[in-house]
Amino acid sequence: MEENLRYAVGIDVGTENVRAVVASINREGVLSVVGYNEAKNSGMRKGVPANLAGPADAIDKMLGEVERMSGYEIHSAYVSINGAQILTTKTEGMIAVGTIEHEINEEDLARVEDVAVSGRIPANREILGVIPIGYSIDEQDGVKDPIGMTGARLEMKANVISALSPNCVNLRRVTEGAKLNAESLVPTAVAAGRAVLDERQLENGVAVIDMGAATTSVAVYEEGDLQYVGVVPAGSNNVTNDLAIMLEINTEVADEIKKRYVTGSFSGEKDIVIKVNREEMTFEREKVDEVVRARLEEIFEKVRKELRKAGYEKRLPEGAVLVGGGAKMRDIEVFAKQVLEMSVKVGVPKGLGGVSSAVEKAEYATAVGLMLLAAEGGSGKATGRTGKMKKKAKKKSGGGFFTGLLAKFKI
Ligand SMILES: Nc1ncnc2c1ncn2[C@@H]1O[C@H](COP(=O)(O)OP(=O)(O)OP(=O)(O)O)[C@@H](O)[C@H]1O
Ligand SMILES: [Mg+2]
Repeated sequence: MEENLRYAVGIDVGTENVRAVVASINREGVLSVVGYNEAKNSGMRKGVPANLAGPADAIDKMLGEVERMSGYEIHSAYVSINGAQILTTKTEGMIAVGTIEHEINEEDLARVEDVAVSGRIPANREILGVIPIGYSIDEQDGVKDPIGMTGARLEMKANVISALSPNCVNLRRVTEGAKLNAESLVPTAVAAGRAVLDERQLENGVAVIDMGAATTSVAVYEEGDLQYVGVVPAGSNNVTNDLAIMLEINTEVADEIKKRYVTGSFSGEKDIVIKVNREEMTFEREKVDEVVRARLEEIFEKVRKELRKAGYEKRLPEGAVLVGGGAKMRDIEVFAKQVLEMSVKVGVPKGLGGVSSAVEKAEYATAVGLMLLAAEGGSGKATGRTGKMKKKAKKKSGGGFFTGLLAKFKI
């Protein structure tokens, strides 16, 4: 029955493309993809809005088609946030919880989190999530879930994911411009992780690498928790631009060469012959490969540096999962493996019902993950087509979607 349906919407605001995925959820909680779309974006620089009208317009237009397809009027969604300004900061805090018999409760956890976070994150940053790494009670370390335990002194170590406030504000203005409430802002690689990782990978240790047009985002998981988020300000468009400069061609031709002829194993031998304005042009294979290889190496070296910063360089048993449009280059995983020195595969969302085959693609991983997090976050209440829109973005307290990431597996 229509009125019993809930809807969940994920919108990935990329530098080059915007993508949306909508699912309906029935009373039994079964999820079914009922709408999706992608469109070219404009007005973004390296993952963040450089003007408001461009991306607002792109989202608005894209959603028109999604609404027609799904029969659902969209006014609220989980939205991606990106850019090298996203940081992970390790913090810790300690509180006294009372007498030795005191049973630790939710309130104590909120209080110790407050102490761990306040003053540690600069005022111009918005906290996207606080992920507890572990607690210690009195002198006992390594406590994962202290609720109900007794003790007098509670300590917490946590990872705090934050983004520059002006970028968050601008992103919300963009979505407001598209008559949309951004319920939660989730870093792209974190959202993608929700769509492409399984429990074993999350437990053992894995990295998600979202290679987009202008950014390459990294998220690291271990022991079921998000451990690190970092963003490299370069992506697959840098490859295109290098080809355009070095081969003295326009970016359209360079893009065609990249997408049709280049592979990450660099095994092509023949020179590349393509027609440009009905004229045949030949490009030396060696030169093309050299240009692409240099740029990809630089990007994956920077990804490796992020992993090193996170303390996980060559320390991830489940390796890395590549998503995003950049992951569509044939054999890109072969090259990434050489640079990162760990196993790498391309990830696609799986196991969704409805018209899901269209979104089971590496470039849809972030939008699908956002939709899944929205479904778990309880957004998109059954509304029918009221056309009402919440005006103000609800500020979510830390941790929401990060803990939601594992909700599916903890049942
Ligand atoms: N088949 C392909 N082979 C190689 N590259 C591809 C292919 N298809 C798309 N790309 C590249 O993927 C990039 C776009 O990816 P995506 O849509 O994930 O980026 P985005 O989300 O808009 O950007 P960002 O995440 O950096 O903000 C472009 O550089 C495009 O050229
Ligand atoms: Mg992207």
